[in-house]
Amino acid sequence: MCGIIGITSNKTVSAAIINSLKKLEYRGYDSAGVATIYDGVIKEVKSEGRVENLEQNSLIKSLEGTVGIGHVRWATHGVPNSINAHPHSSSNVSVVHNGIIENSTILKKFLEGKGHVFKSQTDTEVIVHLISEHLKTKNILNSITTALKQLHGSYALGILFKDEPDLIIGARRGSPLAVGYGPNENYLGSDSYALKSMTNKITYLEDGEFCFIKKDQVSFYNEKGIKINKKVLELSSNQANYEKGDFKHFMAKEIEEQPVTISNGIKEYVDQLNNEINIYNFPWSIDDLNSIKLIGCGTAYHSCLMAKYWFEELTSLDVSIDIASEFRYRKNKFKKDCLYIFVSQSGETADTYAALDLCKQNKMKTCAVVNSVESSIARDSNFVLPIHCGPEIGVASTKAFLGQILILYILTLKFGYVKKDLSKKIYQNKIKDLKKLPKLIEKTLLMDNKIQNIVSDLNEAKGSMFLGRGFSYPIALEGALKLKELSYIHAEGYPAGEMKHGPLALIEEGMPVIVLAPRDSYYKKTISNMQEVIARGAKVLLITNKSKDEILSENLWETLEVETTNDDLLPFLITIPLQKLAYYSALQKGFDIDKPRNLAKSVTVE
Ligand code: F6R
Repeated sequence: MCGIIGITSNKTVSAAIINSLKKLEYRGYDSAGVATIYDGVIKEVKSEGRVENLEQNSLIKSLEGTVGIGHVRWATHGVPNSINAHPHSSSNVSVVHNGIIENSTILKKFLEGKGHVFKSQTDTEVIVHLISEHLKTKNILNSITTALKQLHGSYALGILFKDEPDLIIGARRGSPLAVGYGPNENYLGSDSYALKSMTNKITYLEDGEFCFIKKDQVSFYNEKGIKINKKVLELSSNQANYEKGDFKHFMAKEIEEQPVTISNGIKEYVDQLNNEINIYNFPWSIDDLNSIKLIGCGTAYHSCLMAKYWFEELTSLDVSIDIASEFRYRKNKFKKDCLYIFVSQSGETADTYAALDLCKQNKMKTCAVVNSVESSIARDSNFVLPIHCGPEIGVASTKAFLGQILILYILTLKFGYVKKDLSKKIYQNKIKDLKKLPKLIEKTLLMDNKIQNIVSDLNEAKGSMFLGRGFSYPIALEGALKLKELSYIHAEGYPAGEMKHGPLALIEEGMPVIVLAPRDSYYKKTISNMQEVIARGAKVLLITNKSKDEILSENLWETLEVETTNDDLLPFLITIPLQKLAYYSALQKGFDIDKPRNLAKSVTVE
């Protein structure tokens, strides 16, 4: 949540900061700002709304200085406006901050008592005044070490000092932060993505650490203020992944990329010649595992639910799932023979990280299914299964969802086979089917025209429902989430068989209901539930797969047919029309598809 960039250089930095902020906008976009030091004075320019507004702010052109910090905000404390936008500055200190300072009210009272005057409603401003207060009696290093000890909560910080026109301090606790190295300049960024256009040499800070960044030198410190050494990592870079190319939106590009990303995932884990799954260096014996716990948030949680259905169907393992924000505060019964799997695209989601941390403290076996292999969740798990999707920039997750469920399906097959729940023949047949999946996704993607024709009716609706049973139920939840986050239409995902226990009361004449009924073992049951909603006036869009058999229903609003494969793999295919439905619905409404209101890509606050 929120994005930070800092640059110290031998040339003016404001334009480069603005460029990086544009890349970071997916992390927050309700306001943006930059501060630099020029001629011994801290100068800041801030604007409400997008980075575009900041760029057009007439003051930005005159913002000189060879050291600066910038920020894009996703509001937590205080409404989104230019006063609450970061950086926040006193006469001698300027700060950008991601995270939440939980004791800000107490600190503010203390600082007001000392004569400090606050301008904004943010928790961040207390950090500025706290450091300024310490600077009255201490040097910079001691002021920082003391101030950081007084802050409760989470932070990634970028700090400028009026009297140090070559220095940025970065500090991390609970929110990611990276240092980048360039020729005659160095950088601070809330993730490597922000820095990628400038460098591929990165060091990540760990919780409690801080750093002094100058244009020709970087020093790292632990929380006691003692100097430490840290490794410089070289990131792989493929700039094309970070551009929209010919697509109107990243989301459209990411939906269309799915045949390739799924194919990459399969190539990574499946021995094509021998129809065998390879999970190299798995640190435990699969035979010794008796249960699995999957944990995630939002779309990643839906991946966990999908995996539960597969693991239960194809293995003898006991499987449970949890929403990370619930798991982290419950009294959990930790089990030694359980594998705890953390699913996350970004690998930085605060709740998922906290759940991982809890498992680590209890010495559990932890495995991360992540897209960003350089993330905190990846680095701190015992074992990592990357999903190999490439960067996902659109705030609404699409290719990462398919990537996550692909890896979880591969894991299910491997575990089922090793534990002798699946015969070699069934195991290898399922792998053969899996290898055909990219082609089937490619064909299923070709339904834009039909979907474009439906969305105007959908867009008139006050609310909608997405129904599915069995393997289609997690996909119904995911379809509903996509529609609500992109089109702001109320959408509820529900198990089709559960409607009669309450939600059927919501159905009225003309209400759009999207029914997921591929021709799997649940097909007939779902079709019966579909009749119940049609009988009550619902306008049903049926999503099924192609078959020579006729559809067992009349009075449908519309039908979309995906390609055909085995029952396990149908969830991949029925996801595609739901992604497109949400995309075209938002497109027709003229909404900001890659940056839906109130949301951010990487949720690093709890
Ligand atoms: C929805 C969406 C979110 C994320 C959730 C977890 O489209 O993208 O629900 O899935 O915030 O994020 P990660 O996967 O980064 O942990």
